[in-house]
Amino acid sequence: MFNLMREDIRTVKERDPAATSTLNVVVNYPGLHALWAHRVDHWLWAHGRRGLARWSSQVARFFTGVEIHPGATIGRRFFIDHGMGVVVGETTIIHDDVTVYQGVTLGGTGKEKGKRHPTLEDHVVVGVGSTVLGDITIGRGSKVGGGAVVIRNVPPNCTVVGIPGRVVVREGQRVETVDLHHEDLPDPVVEMFRQLQRRIDVLEARVLQDEAAISERSGKELPAEDEA
Ligand SMILES: CC(C)(COP(=O)(O)OP(=O)(O)OC[C@H]1O[C@@H](n2cnc3c(N)ncnc32)[C@H](O)[C@@H]1OP(=O)(O)O)[C@@H](O)C(=O)NCCC(=O)NCCS
Repeated sequence: MFNLMREDIRTVKERDPAATSTLNVVVNYPGLHALWAHRVDHWLWAHGRRGLARWSSQVARFFTGVEIHPGATIGRRFFIDHGMGVVVGETTIIHDDVTVYQGVTLGGTGKEKGKRHPTLEDHVVVGVGSTVLGDITIGRGSKVGGGAVVIRNVPPNCTVVGIPGRVVVREGQRVETVDLHHEDLPDPVVEMFRQLQRRIDVLEARVLQDEAAISERSGKELPAEDEA
């Protein structure tokens, strides 16, 4: 157990440049306290002491601002930075070396039963204030941008941003997306008038051309008529 705690402290120092000393980490990191409390709660949950586990997780929430359901499965070197407002649902599975920031929700959509919370594979990073909903998988090494709402599976090594979350980087390459500038959305009525105007211009030019040809022809033909 102490080896695990030492590893947790090392993880914080590695991932947060502000973590200067072991004492600083042990005293000032609510995400770490929440993780340690969860280990105890999860043990209680797994050994049938579910009521006590739930109560204990609520006590931890009161002190840390992080609500982790005791049923959630969390791997090694999990790092919750800042912590406040993080919610981890009952059937969430978090693999190793995952990082989440404040305000992250790993929740259910409210429509599913059984496994209804996300699975985060190794080395996933979930940015500040983002929401991952449902029994979906965020693939190994993927990043969820701050403020995103992700409701579909994300393949490994991707960056997903926005609402709803869309992949913008895959395996280090930018993914082309449709670029709709809101200030530049096409207006079908204006476009129809433009087309009509173009058509009128063409017809007008043709009429003028025809008139010129007729007057030219009639100018030449007139003397002929006179001669006749
Ligand atoms: C998503 C993130 C991880 C960057 O990942 P990345 O793979 O390096 O992606 P890039 O920076 O190359 O950005 C890719 C595109 O997504 C956009 N983007 C990046 N983060 C975004 C976000 N949170 N929301 C919306 N769009 C975002 C970029 O503008 C870029 O768009 P462009 O191609 O039109 O220029 C990072 O921007 C982020 O959100 N990190 C969260 C960190 C955090 O929570 N910190 C809290 C500290 S307290």
